[in-house]
Amino acid sequence: MKKFDYKLYWDNRFWDMNYYPSVELGVIEPVIKKYMTSPKGKSVLEVGCGSGKCADFFINKEMEYTGLDISRVYKPLFESRYISRKFILADIYKWKPDKVYDFVFTYVTLQHIIPEHIKAVIEKLLKVGKYLFSVENMYFINIRNVHKKPYRNKSYQYEFNHDYEKLFGDRLLDKVIVDEYKTYRKILWVAKGKGSL
Ligand SMILES: C[S@@+](CC[C@H](N)C(=O)[O-])C[C@H]1O[C@@H](n2cnc3c(N)ncnc32)[C@H](O)[C@@H]1O
Repeated sequence: MKKFDYKLYWDNRFWDMNYYPSVELGVIEPVIKKYMTSPKGKSVLEVGCGSGKCADFFINKEMEYTGLDISRVYKPLFESRYISRKFILADIYKWKPDKVYDFVFTYVTLQHIIPEHIKAVIEKLLKVGKYLFSVENMYFINIRNVHKKPYRNKSYQYEFNHDYEKLFGDRLLDKVIVDEYKTYRKILWVAKGKGSL
């Protein structure tokens, strides 16, 4: 079988970014408020930010938003939209953080982290953030973790049902259903970060 190349996959999976998850962010809003009474000036790092679809949600709260993504395709798009915001072009598996953020956020990104890396990635995010907010899909269908069909003939589509409850362990603060559909349930996981590198 052809070797799976996740970096190539994200450089090629350039989807329509016009979709804005307003309903989902509406569900998340009160949960965020519960942990952050005054968001103004707080720092937030979105890991797997793509072109920055969720950025406005945080920027409108006057938060210091930084995006991180592996895909060089998103970098110029992000930077043209958010001139004064920092975009870190990095692979989360290899990235070496140099500061702590008040919040780390992921939106349908951890589900794309390869099982052999997920424990280490979550450990890293818990160190980097004082809180971790992750919105991830759980699929009811029998997903093949590495799909057999190449994505646009370039690489292989993949996603995983991780056991977040186990991965967050006693750091788990909240689990909120954000959206539900026939084939998946979207869940917001809130975990208490260590906030120390
Ligand atoms: C499903 S997309 C979601 C993007 C964005 N959160 C959104 O909702 O538009 C997952 C994102 O994670 C990024 N990603 C996947 N693996 C990554 C890795 N190892 N390091 C950093 N980013 C990664 C991809 O490039 C992609 O932008």
